[in-house]
Amino acid sequence: YINFCTPRERKYILEVLVNGLKRLEYRGYDSAGMVLQIDGGNSTNTDNKGPPIAVIKQRGKVSALEEKINSKKNEELDFEFKFSTHTGIAHTRWATHGVPNCVNSHPQRSDDNNEFVVVHNGILTNYKSFKTFLQSHNYEFESDTDTEVIAKLIKYLWDNRESETIQFATLVERVIQQLEGAFALVFKSRYFPGQCIATRRGSPLLIGVHSKSKLSTDNIPILYSSFLDAYVMLFKGQFFPLVPNNTYVESPSILIVPIYSTNQSMQLCRLNSTTELVTQNGESEGIEFYFASDASAIIEHTNQVIFLEDDDVAAVVDGALTIHRVKRGKSTESTTRTVTSLQLELQQIMKGNFKSFMQKEIFEQPESVVNTMRGRMQWEEQRVVLGGLMDHIDEIRRCRRIIIIACGTSYHSAIATRQLIEEMTELPMVELASDFLDRETPIFRDDVCFFISQSGETADTLMALHYCKKRGSLTVGITNTVGSSISRITDCGVHINAGPEIGVASTKAYTSQFTALVMFALMMSEDRFSKRKRYLEIVNALKELPEKIKEVLTLDAEIKKLSDSLYKKKSLLVMGRGFNFATCLEGALKIKEITYMHSEGILAGELKHGPLALVDVDMPILMIVSKDNVYTKVQNALQQVVARHGRPIIICENDDEESVKYASHILKVPHTVDCLQGILTVIPLQLLSFHIAQLKGLDVDFPRNLAKSVTVE
Ligand code: F6R
Repeated sequence: YINFCTPRERKYILEVLVNGLKRLEYRGYDSAGMVLQIDGGNSTNTDNKGPPIAVIKQRGKVSALEEKINSKKNEELDFEFKFSTHTGIAHTRWATHGVPNCVNSHPQRSDDNNEFVVVHNGILTNYKSFKTFLQSHNYEFESDTDTEVIAKLIKYLWDNRESETIQFATLVERVIQQLEGAFALVFKSRYFPGQCIATRRGSPLLIGVHSKSKLSTDNIPILYSSFLDAYVMLFKGQFFPLVPNNTYVESPSILIVPIYSTNQSMQLCRLNSTTELVTQNGESEGIEFYFASDASAIIEHTNQVIFLEDDDVAAVVDGALTIHRVKRGKSTESTTRTVTSLQLELQQIMKGNFKSFMQKEIFEQPESVVNTMRGRMQWEEQRVVLGGLMDHIDEIRRCRRIIIIACGTSYHSAIATRQLIEEMTELPMVELASDFLDRETPIFRDDVCFFISQSGETADTLMALHYCKKRGSLTVGITNTVGSSISRITDCGVHINAGPEIGVASTKAYTSQFTALVMFALMMSEDRFSKRKRYLEIVNALKELPEKIKEVLTLDAEIKKLSDSLYKKKSLLVMGRGFNFATCLEGALKIKEITYMHSEGILAGELKHGPLALVDVDMPILMIVSKDNVYTKVQNALQQVVARHGRPIIICENDDEESVKYASHILKVPHTVDCLQGILTVIPLQLLSFHIAQLKGLDVDFPRNLAKSVTVE
């Protein structure tokens, strides 16, 4: 969702909102909705409730909403109309409470007049009691969502206000004090035209700031706000509130205004009472503020962002942004928010010539893996330096246990590297975040807990992180998203730098997480003489890895052909063991996720304990065979499959003449060191799932029922 406040035409606002939603669509695509404020001055406003608010919602993808908007042009939205207040909110939904339909779409509203409207990302855990309370006070509900409670609750507080001058932001502050669960919320109200309030707890929310001049990060300009009577200083990209007699700092509120600086000198700027910044020489320009769940929605407009923290309430009022906090107890919360310059580029979140983001991301892997290693693998010195861990590496080396916690594909990257980390450190355990929490796993101060997450926002992983932090362990994040909750909350960490991953099925993030964890294992063992030979073997293999990935990608046409014989099948088994077991799990996940075929990753050692019963001449079976320490054992499994008339498709190394003899189809990948072979064996499975999904006519980037960032439990 986006809030927007500059004097431009409605068409532009609509485009910004629709395009922003399209870029966020990978996070949820069950339905979409939008709110636009209609100007009070000229439009019908007969009920004394302030200027009307238009709500448009549609089941399905954002394109369906766009069509609906287009078909409504010149009807209730009156597109020719120019208006002075320019604010809109938009939302794309991944259904949690209530089926995906129009009524359950966001925005949710307080009443038929749209007096208060809200969009929500997250899940409320205490909405039922409020629903009962509000219903008993004659507030009627129309949807099955938890979110509707928020819209009704703010109206209840408004209807029962003690003062006519109550602020919109104050109402929101009161609402969130009642809420339990996770949320990022953006509100609009007819009673507060020209205002938009956003807040978060547990779910991500950032503010993009755009002004035509470059925002200064190294000057110390001082801004004066005529209506709030507060000063703001910017120093090295951080905003500090400066106030006469400190009263402002006492009241936990920060005024943040983008800095207007075109040269190196200090500038005094004034924010006038409408939407413009007036510089010293009297020039004025509009500033645009965007609220969004992630930066991809706004990157075409600005790369300057402020990441909101839990319980921040950000208010845009007549073009100026303030951030308030509800002070809790005696906690020493920071009273500044940093403006971060993102490295993200628009072209990174475009498909280019590829059919889908997933396909693009599969083919980006030779570069994404290089980017994960860039500046960290010091090839000449044969050293690994993970800068983000340097301050804590001694503590990590001394720890009692390393516990790696993650979900889905990220969990598989931990499985893939567990054996190596174990070998190099003699320490790790790997945990699925949800199960780890269910079991209330004991955690101690001398444990080091790793949290692996592409998005950095996965609710289960995030909750496990809070759980471990509470118990005093050192926390380490391995994420792909700068500024994400996990990267901010952990004590230290590594960004995998794979670039934005948009396809819902994770591909390049997996190989980059894998690479980052291998680098971590190396860093842990660089001083161990007994591991030196192994260490050097892996360093050398990492250097050659990108070229070998390129070689694997040349199998694409062959894999496409193979998909022809598989796409009508109901099931597909993927078998392997040792370092390749993670490839089986990850390959099977990719297949079920985007082709909707049943697929199972089977540890070949378990074959005779059950799965062998599934094997017959018709069951498609993929076997991953590498020339590593379990080669003979995998050969045994291969024999058992063939003896039951199984016709395995084998992924093996280039020079494996033995396995070839038993294969119904063979896919050969280059050889690398055993602990990295999983990177080369997983890519054919990524390609296979992609081609099968294509042949089945499925939407590869938007698999049914799924969303990219699972920010709910
Ligand atoms: C599968 C997939 C999911 C995610 C999982 C964790 O392709 O993408 O299984 O890996 O939801 O997400 P992150 O890594 O963002 O924590």
